[in-house]
Amino acid sequence: MAPQDPLAENNGYTLDSQGPDSFPLGMKIPSTVKVRRPSAADLAPQSPILAESLAKSPVDRVFWRKRSLHRLFSLGNMDAKARDSNIPQSIDGKRSRKSEQELDEHARTQIVEDSIYVMRMNDFGGYTVPAQGLYPFQWNWDSAIVSAGWAVFDEARAWEELEKLFSGQWEDGMVPSIVFHRPSNTYFPGPDIWGTPQKPSKSTGITQPPVAALSVRFLYEHTENPELAEQKLVSLFPKLLAWHRWWYKARDPENTGVVAILHPWESGMDNSPAWDESMKFPIDKLPRYVRCDLNHVDSCMRPTQETYDRYLTLLHRFKAANFYDPSRLYWISPFRVTDLCVNSILIRANRDLRWLALRLEKDDIVKEIDEWLNKGFEGFKQLWDEDSGLFKCKDQLTGKLANAPISAAFLPLFAGVATKEQADKLTHNLERWLGQVNYGVPSMDPEDHRFEPLRYWRGPVWIIMNWMISNGLRHYGYDELADRIKDDSISLTTKAGLREYFDPLTGDGAGGRNFSWTAAMCLAWLDRPAAIAIGHKMSGPKKHLNA
Ligand code: DGY
Repeated sequence: MAPQDPLAENNGYTLDSQGPDSFPLGMKIPSTVKVRRPSAADLAPQSPILAESLAKSPVDRVFWRKRSLHRLFSLGNMDAKARDSNIPQSIDGKRSRKSEQELDEHARTQIVEDSIYVMRMNDFGGYTVPAQGLYPFQWNWDSAIVSAGWAVFDEARAWEELEKLFSGQWEDGMVPSIVFHRPSNTYFPGPDIWGTPQKPSKSTGITQPPVAALSVRFLYEHTENPELAEQKLVSLFPKLLAWHRWWYKARDPENTGVVAILHPWESGMDNSPAWDESMKFPIDKLPRYVRCDLNHVDSCMRPTQETYDRYLTLLHRFKAANFYDPSRLYWISPFRVTDLCVNSILIRANRDLRWLALRLEKDDIVKEIDEWLNKGFEGFKQLWDEDSGLFKCKDQLTGKLANAPISAAFLPLFAGVATKEQADKLTHNLERWLGQVNYGVPSMDPEDHRFEPLRYWRGPVWIIMNWMISNGLRHYGYDELADRIKDDSISLTTKAGLREYFDPLTGDGAGGRNFSWTAAMCLAWLDRPAAIAIGHKMSGPKKHLNA
């Protein structure tokens, strides 16, 4: 039994760490699991801004549900009676498109309710923890995704999520991967190990994929409160810009058009096989440490001990470099990689930042962003591997492409930097991968000998990757394939609940439970028409489509 996070209790929820796969708002509540529904006090907002916003609208879960259902695809038309009379008792794991479609409406209603519930449960006061116990602080790209989930039922709270994230921004523009707003003893390495006391909040000394500009555009474009959105855009835009500028200054000082990550945690794909070669540097003598992640998740689903020793080696070396001084880290790090995930998201985020700059009539900034985009087009060329028909990450220290077919290989579609020919080759590979599994998209080629269906980024399906990949496919006109991935994502969350990731062979959930960004994906991104339409609305140069 994992230790309970004391903050979780502050939130008023007693959720057994072995708790239900699907949060229990109606059905499938295992009797052995201690879960209770929230009381009015539980639902009271944790932050003054949220309190104020909710004071103007009812603090009522039924209200939220209705409102969110109306704002979501087809579910708005369902009346509760029709839904309840038809709820299936179990969902078998077999692939049957027809029956899945029939189940869809009821199951999605349930998932929407569960998602709202999970977001509320993981709200620690203006920020949403990814999963209680396992990840008890504010994570950078999780929060950006989660903000759009909030927007479906509480727009003010959505903006607050982003403001809270940027409250941890460093003076040089970096937005840290984790902001430690409040203490917790259920995660390692916490603020004491990182030791960054001079910064606005306690935080890590590294960053994460820059998703935030995408979310700001999404919130702004779909606002129901234009005055609020305008005000938030004006205050957030300079912060976004400073972060993007930081990426180029600190992580591309040699002006290659693509940026480096210096720690696997910066990619978000901690133990991806793409880092195997680049992580072969010697492990330093480390202070004794105890991992906490294994208190929450089975070790077969997490990075190995040796990998952790290398994560910690990097952390301690960076700390010794004048406390994560960005002007030094690039030059001293034994791990320096061009990551497809960060670079694709950065390019896509540049496009959204450009769109926002146009709204604000900042022509000089539009020009600056166009330069980043044009250089990015060039930079991506070195990441294409014609032999495999895939993009690959690249070790900047050896100059070699990583011999690892990972799902981030498809993200240049999301960035809009792949040529049409490349897109064609990518989709051939993708179809082959999907033919080997029951649920896509696995995080690595299932035919590769390193494929492990349960181990974090070495095989499992991640819903956020599914959204980015399907979104990119739509941009290039592969709507059918995009729909297949969307349907798989719906099947997985329906079958296994709001898990961190999923086994592509069985569809079972894995990693953390009641996971905030999976909830946000279900609420805002996955199948909401507005989010689907984004695939067709890329700002900035479209040279790739003419190639
Ligand atoms: C972890 O601790 O697993 C995180 O991915 C680091 O950010």
